[in-house]
Amino acid sequence: MADLVTASTVPVAEEVGRMYDRMTLLAADFLEVEAQQGYNAHLGYWDTPESGLTYDEATDRLTDIMTERLRIGSGARVLDVGCGVGAPAVRIARLKGAEVTGISVSREQVDRAEALARATALQGRVTFRRADAMRLPFADDSFDAVLAIESMPHMPDREQVLRETARVLRPGGRVVLTDFYRRTAPSPTVHPLRKTMGSTTVPLDDYPAILRASGLEFVEMLDITEETVPRSFALLAERAERMGLDPESTEAQCYFNPQSVIDVHLLGYLLVVARRPQGD
Ligand SMILES: C[S@@+](CC[C@H](N)C(=O)[O-])C[C@H]1O[C@@H](n2cnc3c(N)ncnc32)[C@H](O)[C@@H]1O
Repeated sequence: MADLVTASTVPVAEEVGRMYDRMTLLAADFLEVEAQQGYNAHLGYWDTPESGLTYDEATDRLTDIMTERLRIGSGARVLDVGCGVGAPAVRIARLKGAEVTGISVSREQVDRAEALARATALQGRVTFRRADAMRLPFADDSFDAVLAIESMPHMPDREQVLRETARVLRPGGRVVLTDFYRRTAPSPTVHPLRKTMGSTTVPLDDYPAILRASGLEFVEMLDITEETVPRSFALLAERAERMGLDPESTEAQCYFNPQSVIDVHLLGYLLVVARRPQGD
């Protein structure tokens, strides 16, 4: 519990990495059995309220909606910033023929992602490493596209991460990300999520300026809250029940059952597309 008490308001990559190590180990028995192909650690997307997709199918749907916007073809070099246990990277390599590099600050996640890549026999087209997005260990112009599915909320400084993203992208290359935004002023119910998950939210209107300050061109911003948050949170609560989570573990409840600690109406979810300017 010491980590929870001392966690700072601005996320610290080391602490976030340790939190994901703990949550990945907690998920191992349950999620890795349920999802033989690995699992996505992000929200689901349902195109309509009538959509019958399961939670796992809907999380793949979000990966696909984001991947379409990368505008990549076979052989494209893609960086997945905050890659979780590797399911999105493997899916993109398989469906698009891309070469995907995933990074995470969690050693447990990287180990599992590497095991998943080996099991899928993608012949070295998917690689993972432990790295901090604040200081990307890649040369300038190394990637054709960058994806960041729900990792931005954990970043100590969004502008710094996006500056690094712009640096490693080739001119004209796209970045597609999702992020949470505040729907109202922070309230006491928001606080536990920030503290225990090492996350922050941004005001919706700040994004274009954040992108500009990072040297990226704004392309598109979609508010996809209704398609994602309410149903995901409801299904996560059902799954948390099946997992038999310790009700006293604030951290586990926060991660696996966010609606137990945050009012769902306070959180919005954004999909943002930007591009490194041509010829800079
Ligand atoms: C909500 S999970 C999403 C995982 C994955 N994108 C997915 O959709 O399955 C957030 C991810 O961001 C990573 N992350 C958080 N802070 C990071 C940082 N400073 N550098 C690199 N990765 C980071 C975490 O380790 C975790 O893998």
